Parts: sequence; structure tokens; C-alpha cells
Amino acid sequence: MQVCRTISNIRAAVAAFRAAGETVGLVTTMGALHSGHMALVAAAKAAQTRVVATIFVNPTQFGNAEDLANYPRTEDADLEMLRDAGVDAVLIPDAAEIYPRDNETIVETTRLANVLHGLVRPGHYRGVTTVVSKLFNITQPDAAYFGEKDYQQLQVIKRMARDLQMPVAVHGVPTVRESDGLAMSSRNARLTENDRRAAVVLSRALDKAENEAGRRVPIDRIDQALRTTINAEPRARLRAVDIVDPATFAPAVGLMKGPIAIMLSVEFGPNDNPVMLIDQREITP
Ligand code: PAF
Repeated sequence: MQVCRTISNIRAAVAAFRAAGETVGLVTTMGALHSGHMALVAAAKAAQTRVVATIFVNPTQFGNAEDLANYPRTEDADLEMLRDAGVDAVLIPDAAEIYPRDNETIVETTRLANVLHGLVRPGHYRGVTTVVSKLFNITQPDAAYFGEKDYQQLQVIKRMARDLQMPVAVHGVPTVRESDGLAMSSRNARLTENDRRAAVVLSRALDKAENEAGRRVPIDRIDQALRTTINAEPRARLRAVDIVDPATFAPAVGLMKGPIAIMLSVEFGPNDNPVMLIDQREITP
């Protein structure tokens, strides 16, 4: 595995793959890798002949400096996991390489980035699309793989690639879960033991919602089932429940007429330094 710290090094690696007629799959990460990331690598490996990964804790998608500083950094372990998974090249740039001092260009999906989770974290998806477009431009992959867990992020990136005619196929990969159902996330490492046990409430609430949807109840009953389940867990603070049409992100109302996407944001831990967990489920009637 080639470990590249500069744009010119990763470009040379990708150019050599291309010259040999290979296809390139990209997995972008912020490090602190876990099985969820490895599922993205596996999806890329299954469909492309070469896999390129990036590890970059992107400052522009964090709302405050403390969150950015607290983000786990585990470079040695990350590199070992990528090597073991058969990744061909990895880019680990520093911030100045990605954001030169006079950087002033941003990329934003103006509507999708500023609804739902984007309202709770203003500027977050703008930071994501800005860095992902840079990483697409730097590595020029045929396809890129993102987790379905961050459902809004996946839709935002798909829309960006479509709107800007980027020649990259953006694929969603199903969420990998712990044995109790908790979606894998780098943030789980920041939970106390008690909060970790309580965090199973997200997937339990989604199971309840899916049961309700199976009984063909109106959307507000599904919403109620989610809220009741989360609020029954004293360690959990519900921040957002969104039930939307997956194609438009418009709120779903009344009886289910087509597929719905449910997105949950739930906080654990101290109010002044919380851990925000998200989970999602798409349900088809
Ligand atoms: O999902 C992530 O880890 C990040 O948002 C991404 C896509 C790597 C952009 O920094």
C-alpha cells in the first residue's frame, strides 16, 4: 500500500493505475477506522480493480474547535487496517495541503444541505461537499463509496456529483452494526460504558417504527413510536426525528404512499461535551 502525504504523490499513484488500465474506487474517511469503513473498502474492492482511501479530519465540517480537537486520531491502526484490507494507496494530507491559506471556494448543495440534520449543524454539509469535491478532483475515481448510516450526507454527495456533472458513480453501502444493533461509528468510542449500553435505543426505536409501518399506521404514529422509545431512555436526549420522502427530503405525512426514510439524531453524555449519534432506516410499504 502506497502511503501518500501530498496531492502530487497520490496523483502519481492513481496515474500509474490508470496507465495499467485499472479502475479506481475511492473510500474517503476521517480515520478512527472500524468495520463500517472496512465494509466501504470491501464494496470498492468487489467492484473496482484498485482501491484508494483517504484519511483527513476535515476542519470545515466541524461546528466548533473542541469537536475537531476531540475527534479520535489513530493513524497507525488505521494504516494497518487499510493494508490488511488490500487498499492500494492512501492519501493522508495535512490541512494546508487541502486548504491552501487563501482558499476561498466552497461547494454547497443549497437546499439539501440546509434541511434536517443540516439545521442542527449549520455549515456541516457544506464542509463535507467542499472536501469531497476536492478529494474527487485529487483522486479522480470511477466510483466512490459512502455509508448509508449518514443518509443525508449520502444524498447530498450524490446530488453534488450529479449537479456538477462529476464523472464519479456515488454508491451507498449498508450500515454495519454491533451485535446489539448499535450502528458502528467512530463516536461510539467516546461513550461511557452506561451510555454505550443505552445507545442501543436508536436501533430499537427504528425497529419499533418499522413494526408500526408494517401495520400501515399513519406517519404521525410512527413518529410517536420513535419519540416514546427514545424518551423512555433517561440517558438519551432526542435531538431530531425526521421522516421524509427519500427522493426529495420533503416531510412524509398521512398514510405511507411510498418509501420513507427515518433519520434520528440522539445525544448522550454531558450537555457541554455531548456525543451525538445518528441512525437511519429506509422503509418501503
Ligand atoms: O463521513 C465521513 O467520514 C466524512 O464526512 C467524509 C465523507 C470523509 C468527508 O470528510
